[in-house]
Amino acid sequence: MELPVHLSVLEKSTEAFNFIVKRLPDALKAPRVAIVCGSGLGGLSETIDKELRVEIDYADIPHFPQLTVAGHAGKLVFGLLDKKVPAVLMVGRAHYYEGHSIDQVTFPIRVFKLLQIDTVVLTNAAGGLNPDYTVGDIVLLNDHLFLAGLAGNHPLRGPNSEEFGPRFPPLSDAYDLDLRRQVHEAWEKVIDPVTKRRLHEGVYAFAGGPSYETRAECRMLRQLGADVVGMSTVPEIVVARHCGIRILAFSLVTNNAVLSPVPRGDDHLIQGRDVKELDAILQEGKANHEEVLEAGRSAAQDMQRLVVHVVSDIFGNL
Ligand code: HPA
Repeated sequence: MELPVHLSVLEKSTEAFNFIVKRLPDALKAPRVAIVCGSGLGGLSETIDKELRVEIDYADIPHFPQLTVAGHAGKLVFGLLDKKVPAVLMVGRAHYYEGHSIDQVTFPIRVFKLLQIDTVVLTNAAGGLNPDYTVGDIVLLNDHLFLAGLAGNHPLRGPNSEEFGPRFPPLSDAYDLDLRRQVHEAWEKVIDPVTKRRLHEGVYAFAGGPSYETRAECRMLRQLGADVVGMSTVPEIVVARHCGIRILAFSLVTNNAVLSPVPRGDDHLIQGRDVKELDAILQEGKANHEEVLEAGRSAAQDMQRLVVHVVSDIFGNL
């Protein structure tokens, strides 16, 4: 009987790296940047030149996590962004709520490190907690709340992989300030005068999902200082920072979290109302997956233009 072989994260990511790099032409072997495309933001891959383009399905890459959620594809797209910057796009990401271990969710970041990528751009769809935000706003992340991580459900828990980084990595400067400054500059140039979409900076709270948050949970996260809430990104950022990768992260506000307390059963305003009327009251602001995808679709263009512009500005002239 063959015993199962337990490979270390370095061994697994090296196998994935070897598999990938064999399929890349020389011009794409050393991407400058990786871009993780969140829900509805996979359109970024359309901006990759058709001429020099390599697509690799997650399903084919050793140890790569497979996706299960509707509306998410799963492939790496290598190519030139804006015709000049060698880049890799992750179209679709594995989420913790799908049942993947936190190691699997963050595995692609390890592979990016082996590809010697030094900057990762992460995008996601998120619920707005800050009452000033509206659906369609873009939030440049400058910090996060990782309640699961604080409680010990942390991607770096266990023996430290010294090859990747130190035992106790600091996260007080996780969201690169220089890159953030450049994003604001780029925004002035790409902002659409018609939609006048707004760009904020804010704090992202990680929620395990897959349920959306209760009203009380939304109020708690807001009181703790979060501006948006979502079910991804933070574990990847922690692992990226551990191995010294610079981070830029964006949320697209696809719905407003409901902060008002749920109506009380003894509220005089609801007495005598039929179930339909009660339902209508409760529908207000309720999150749903279709709404999230739709908001993603209509705002994705601006977000994509911003990302392409920033990446092109930063890496195009090096
Ligand atoms: N909560 C968590 N994740 C999300 C939300 C939300 O309201 N919207 C989009 N992703």
